[in-house]
Amino acid sequence: MAVTINPRRTPLIAGNWKMNLDHLQAIAFVQKLAWGLKDAGHDFTAVEVAVFPPFTDLRSVQTLVSADKLPLAFGGQDVSAHDSGAYTGEISGAFLSQLECQYVIIGHSERRTLHRETDDDVAAKVTAALKHNLVPIICVGETAEDLEQHGPSAVPVSQLRAALAGVTNAADIVVAYEPVWAIGSGQAATPEQAEQVAAALRSVLEESLGQDVAGKTRILYGGSVKASNIAGFMREPNVDGALVGGASLDIAEFSSIVRYQKHVGV
Ligand code: 13P
Repeated sequence: MAVTINPRRTPLIAGNWKMNLDHLQAIAFVQKLAWGLKDAGHDFTAVEVAVFPPFTDLRSVQTLVSADKLPLAFGGQDVSAHDSGAYTGEISGAFLSQLECQYVIIGHSERRTLHRETDDDVAAKVTAALKHNLVPIICVGETAEDLEQHGPSAVPVSQLRAALAGVTNAADIVVAYEPVWAIGSGQAATPEQAEQVAAALRSVLEESLGQDVAGKTRILYGGSVKASNIAGFMREPNVDGALVGGASLDIAEFSSIVRYQKHVGV
C-alpha cells in the first residue's frame, strides 16, 4: 500500500535528543545529518525534518543552520510558562524565539512523570509558546495502566483537551501521540493503534479549534519508532509524522526514518 500524503499536512519527522549530545557533538551531528540528507537528494519541503537538542546546544545549532542555510528546523524540549523573572532554571519562550527556534516540545511524558508536570502546567506552557510564536508540539499518551483501565484513547484525549484549554484562535500546533509504554521500550504501538488514537485526537482538535485547524494540524506518533517500522505508521491517514527518541541519535537510522518514502513497499 502506498503512502498517501494529505496535501494540507506536510509530514514532520522530529528527533527528540532528550539529554544527549553536548554542543560540540550537536554541531558535528547536525552537519552530517543535513549534508547526508542533501546528498541523498532528500526533499525537505516534502518531509520536514526537525531536531530538539538540549538547551545548551541551541545557540550552536542555530549558528550552524543559519550560516550553512541548512533546511532543518529545531526547537527546545520544554519552555517556561512565564516570560521572565525569578524562575531559576527555566527558559522563556522569548529566548527560544530569539534563537530562531520554530518549535518547542511541551508535556513530554518524561516531564509529566519526572517533573510532575500537570495538565494545567502543560496548558500554560502551550499558551506561552504560542505567545512567543513557537509551534508547540503537545505530547499526550497513556501509561500501560491507563491502557488497561481506560482503553487507548481516554487519557490522550483528556490530556489534549486540557492542553488546548487556553488556545482560542486558529493556532499552528502539532500533537504528538506517545504511548508511555512504547517510549524507549522497543515495543512500538501498532500502526492501527496509533491511527485509532490519532483519529480520536483529531476529533478533539475539531471540537476545540474547528474543522479547518483540525484538518491542517499534524499528529505525530512517537514510541520506539525505527527505520523498520516508520512506513507502517505513515500509511495511516491520521498519522502525519513521528517524534523519534533513541533512533534520532543515530544519523543513518534517523536519515532512513526521514526517507521513509524510499522504503515503503509499493
Ligand atoms: P523512543 O523513540 O526512544 O521510544 O522515544 C520516544 C520519545 O520519547 C520521543 O519524544
